[in-house]
Amino acid sequence: MSSYLEFIQGKGTGMNQTFLVTGGNAGIGRSTVEGLAKLGARVILAARSEEKARPVISELATKYQNDDLHFLKLNLADLKSIKKSVDDLLASGLISASRPLDVLINNAGLAGAPGLTADGFEITIGTNHLGPYLLTKLLLPELRKAKQGRIVNVASRAHLRVNGIDWNVMREPASTPAVFNRYGVSKLMNVLHVKELARQLKGTSVTTYALHPGVVASEIWREVPAFIRWPLSLFMISNEEGARTSLYCATNPGLSNVSGLYYDKAQETQANPLAEDPVLARKLFEWSEEAIAQSL
Ligand SMILES: NC(=O)c1ccc[n+]([C@@H]2O[C@H](COP(=O)([O-])OP(=O)(O)OC[C@H]3O[C@@H](n4cnc5c(N)ncnc54)[C@H](OP(=O)(O)O)[C@@H]3O)[C@@H](O)[C@H]2O)c1
Repeated sequence: MSSYLEFIQGKGTGMNQTFLVTGGNAGIGRSTVEGLAKLGARVILAARSEEKARPVISELATKYQNDDLHFLKLNLADLKSIKKSVDDLLASGLISASRPLDVLINNAGLAGAPGLTADGFEITIGTNHLGPYLLTKLLLPELRKAKQGRIVNVASRAHLRVNGIDWNVMREPASTPAVFNRYGVSKLMNVLHVKELARQLKGTSVTTYALHPGVVASEIWREVPAFIRWPLSLFMISNEEGARTSLYCATNPGLSNVSGLYYDKAQETQANPLAEDPVLARKLFEWSEEAIAQSL
C-alpha cells in the first residue's frame, strides 16, 4: 500500500490529470473522488442525482480548495441517457484534445435490487455491466488522446463464486435469491470487460484494471436483510479504505505498463478462471453490442 500512501501525500501522478468517477456521490465512489480532490486533480463526478452530488462537490471543493470538481448527470440504467451524458460532457469543454480524459473509474453499482432497466434488461446486469460498457465505449476515443489513459472497473470478490453466464435471463427480473447471483455475474462481466479491453488495446497508451474494494460499509447492503447485514458490518472497512485499491489502480505510476489484471488490497491477485476465457469475453462483447444496438 506504500504507493497509495505516496500518492495520497502528493507524490503520485494525479495533479494534472482528469478523472471521471461514476457513482461519485456516495460510498466508495465518494471517497475515491475525495482522494483525487485532495490532490487538486480535475474530477468529473458522474451521478444520477444532481441533488445528492452537488453537496459532495461543494463540501470537497471547500475542504481541499479545489475548484476543478464538476458534475455530470449519468444514469447507467438508461442507455439512451448515457449517450446524451457523453454528448453533454464533450460539449462542456471539460475534456478536450489539450486536456483529455485520463482515467475513467467505473465505480457505480447496485446489488440485490429487483427490476429492469429503462431498456428492459435485468437491473443489476444493466446497471453494473451494460451501462458502464456503453460509457467506456463512448469515452474510449477520449481516453486514447491521453498520454496514458486508464479504465478502472470496480468489480467484486463476488465474481469468484460464479460458475457461468446464463444469457437467456438477461431480460428477466431476478427473483430474490437469484438477484444476488446476478450481482456476481455482473461483477464477472466487469472483470471480463477489463481483460478483453486489455487484449484489444494492447500496444496503445490505454491500460485497464479490475478490482475488489474490500467488504465496505457503504450503502450497497441496503437490500440485504438486517439480520445478515448487522453481523457482516462488524467486519467491514470504511469507504475511505474501500477507495484505496481504486486510487491505486487509477494513479500508481508503476502500473502504467500493466493491463488487464485483477487487484485486491492494492495487489494483483487471481480472478475467477472464467474471467481468463477469451471466448467468453468475446461473447460478452458481442452480446453487449447487440443489446446496445437494440436499445439505441
Ligand atoms: N461495499 C462493498 O462491500 C463492495 C464490495 C465489492 C464491490 N463493491 C462495488 O463497489 C462499487 C461502489 O459501491 P458502494 O459499495 O460504494 O455502494 P453505494 O454506497 O450503494 O454506492 C453506489 C453508487 O452507485 C450509484 N448508482 C447506482 N445505480 C446507478 C445508476 N443507475 N446510475 C448511476 N449511478 C448509480 C449510486 O447512486 P445513488 O446514490 O443515486 O443510488 C451510488 O453513487 C460498486 O460497483 C459495487 O459493486 C462494493
